[in-house]
Amino acid sequence: MAVRVGVLGATGAVGQRLIQLLEPHPDFDIAALTASDSSAGKTYRQAAKWRVDSPIPTDIGEMTVTATEPGEVPDDVDLLFSSLPSSIGAEVEPAFCEAGYVVSSNSSNSRMAEDVPLVIPEINADHLDLLEVQRDERGWDGALVKNPNCSTITFVPTLAAIAEYGLEKVHVSTLQAVSGAGYDGVSSMEIIDNAIPYIGSEEDKLETESRKLLGEFDGAELSHNGMSVSASCNRIPTIDGHLENVWVETEDELTPADAAEAMRAFPSLDLRSSPEPLIHVFDEPDRPQPRMDRTVGDGMAIAAGGLQETPFGLQYNCLAHNTIRGAAGASVLNGELLLENGYL
Ligand SMILES: NC(=O)c1ccc[n+]([C@@H]2O[C@H](COP(=O)([O-])OP(=O)(O)OC[C@H]3O[C@@H](n4cnc5c(N)ncnc54)[C@H](OP(=O)(O)O)[C@@H]3O)[C@@H](O)[C@H]2O)c1
Repeated sequence: MAVRVGVLGATGAVGQRLIQLLEPHPDFDIAALTASDSSAGKTYRQAAKWRVDSPIPTDIGEMTVTATEPGEVPDDVDLLFSSLPSSIGAEVEPAFCEAGYVVSSNSSNSRMAEDVPLVIPEINADHLDLLEVQRDERGWDGALVKNPNCSTITFVPTLAAIAEYGLEKVHVSTLQAVSGAGYDGVSSMEIIDNAIPYIGSEEDKLETESRKLLGEFDGAELSHNGMSVSASCNRIPTIDGHLENVWVETEDELTPADAAEAMRAFPSLDLRSSPEPLIHVFDEPDRPQPRMDRTVGDGMAIAAGGLQETPFGLQYNCLAHNTIRGAAGASVLNGELLLENGYL
């Protein structure tokens, strides 16, 4: 039987993607939709300014949106996908976990908390066991698992693929799509004919989340990876798809050919939303490109290319769809992992 699920922040950019992915999902059945008080009481069709590239599913359009409070979500809902602004997530996600709900969240609050697993299933599924520590410490019947920031999720799988060479220094420079800021995030007057070399708090997220994701969990504590990471983040006028330029210095010699082979061979998982292959490596020097390649693996794969040797180590480009692999799809995949591991 399908697990009954809810979406917190269902009317936003990521919430809409979540609905698009969850509605046809055989393991999940959407039973609750929440948003701000100004949307509560409206049908989803009235509340959401629907902008994803498929129609609102009819039954979802007729559902009533509720306020984002535990008392508003039916008790028989087991799993909540959260796409709330992080300030709101910080307030309400713990309350839902305390009330017994398992929450798979996109919001940045608590990502770096010691007892909160930050998970990309293909990379660090074993970190999910941190939930036992979390439940012991917080006394929750529910649980909180996070997926990383959309730009972190784009380059970390490529690093995981070459980690056996010993990651020492990583520099990543991003070219991020406007959908990453939400619908009201960047005005057209700011971004058309422009590029903005600053995204508030983003660089810190790439630098810290990547070290947590590639860290080791010993069953009680998580130690972060010792590599140094430096990030510079830029907003550009693409709609979807974050493109990133990466330079990596490794302990052992790593040729572009070895790196391409390691990325191509990096395994995906036997979960519905895990694409095969996980990393699609292009040989063409001008790929990947956001418009052409953001939908590889139905938006769940990472595209890489442009591998070359430089005085600063191995250089390459990578790309992922920021609202699918970088947000909604990442949460759904974490939901599948929670289900497979008996947390639902
Ligand atoms: N966009 C991306 O590519 C991306 C990628 C990774 C992570 N994220 C993270 O995902 C989260 C959502 O991002 P988004 O782009 O979807 O944002 P968004 O389009 O602005 O949507 C925000 C959602 O939260 C609801 N909300 C706002 N204030 C609320 C409140 N006080 N109480 C309850 N609900 C409230 C909104 O409901 P109303 O419609 O009623 O206002 C809407 O459903 C953020 O934390 C973001 O950092 C986004």
